Parts: sequence; C-alpha cells; structure tokens
Amino acid sequence: MTERKAERLIIPEKLVTLVKKRSEAFQLEGFVPGQGEKSAKIMFVGEAPGETEIHNLIPFSGRAGDELMRFMDIAALTRNDVYITSAVRSRPYRYGEKKDRKTGEMIERRYNRTPTQKEIYAQAPILDFEIQTVQPKLIVTLGNIGLRRLLGKEYGVSSLHGQVLTKQVQKLASLDENRFEKTAAYYTIIPTFHPASIFYNRKLLPLIQADFEAIGSYVKEYLR
Ligand code: URA
Repeated sequence: MTERKAERLIIPEKLVTLVKKRSEAFQLEGFVPGQGEKSAKIMFVGEAPGETEIHNLIPFSGRAGDELMRFMDIAALTRNDVYITSAVRSRPYRYGEKKDRKTGEMIERRYNRTPTQKEIYAQAPILDFEIQTVQPKLIVTLGNIGLRRLLGKEYGVSSLHGQVLTKQVQKLASLDENRFEKTAAYYTIIPTFHPASIFYNRKLLPLIQADFEAIGSYVKEYLR
C-alpha cells in the first residue's frame, strides 16, 4: 500500500474501563483491542474474539484469522494495511460439557457464542470511537454481526456480499439508552461472510474468494 505515517491506534483507557463496566452483567471475558494504524484506509469489522484472541490479545489470530489472512492475500492486503476490529471486543461464552479424552469424565468448559444485541450495545462505544478516529475509506464487514451492527438488522450478508455500498453507519445514540442513530458521514462498505463460516459451509468458499477479489479491485482502483 502507499506510504503512511505509522501510528497505532490506542483506545483510551477511560473508554476501555467504561465499556468493561457496561459489560459486567454479561457472560463476556477478556478484552481484545482493535489492531492497526490510526491512518489505516481499510477497516475490517468482525463479530467478537474467541478463546485464542483473548489469550494473545490479537484480533483474528486463531483459526478464523488464518482463513482471513488467506482471503486478504487474494486482495493483496496484509495485516499492516488494515485496522482489524469487531462489533464486540470481549469473548461471549456459554458453558457446555465435554468428555475428557483421557479420563472419560464430563468436564465443564466455555464455548464461543454469538454476541447478543445487548452486548453489542454495551460495547458499541469502542467501535464508534475506532470509526470516528480512523475514518476508514473502506469498511469490510465480516459476517452478519458486523454488517448489522453498522447498517441495521434489516441487512443480510447473503444478498449483499461483494457489493460496494455507500451508507451512513450506526453509532450509539447515548450512553444511557440502547439505541443506534446514524452518523452524519457516509462510508463505503463491502460486506462479506465471516471467515469462520467456511468451517460449517464449504460452499461459501468461492463466494468469499470472489468478494476478496472485488475488495482487491476496489483498493487498487481507489486506495493505492
Ligand atoms: N472472530 C471475530 O470476529 N473476531 C476475532 O478477533 C476472532 C474471530
């Protein structure tokens, strides 16, 4: 990508404390800041970190991240070219049981789950701050959670993936109510599926590959 002054975006401690406080009532663990430069032209918005991410504090550093890096290759992008974040920055979990392979005993463990709307509202100030500060020229939403966080519940990735949209995005209306309002600014958004979706539905692979070709073409034409 073109030369930029490298300065990492640091989320203010006060904001992190506020969001952690707003998240206390929920089954959320850890906190993974978004990763990338303040002047990044491209922002990727996923769903929420998983177990790997909350341990090493790098977004998309687990299995889904490996897939994301392969898709980004198609668009000739690297981690350094983008700001990577998610609708929720803590890991939403649920308890479940699993048989211990050695002992055969049932053990309780935490499993990833999709964040709820209330959790998305609780953590909204972080993504609002990231968008407001980075002012990305292109936002790529990864999956329905990221897409609906920014555009609203009526949007769906299956019908919109790979399209270039120009839209206002949603931000929290006030810290005292769970309601979004639209930003004054318009943003360019290309929705695609969450990279982990291919673990459950292999048929999505060529669709995601085509989306990243479209992302690569957009970047080459407008952002290089
Ligand atoms: N999925 C996400 O949406 N974000 C991560 O950081 C990891 C997996």
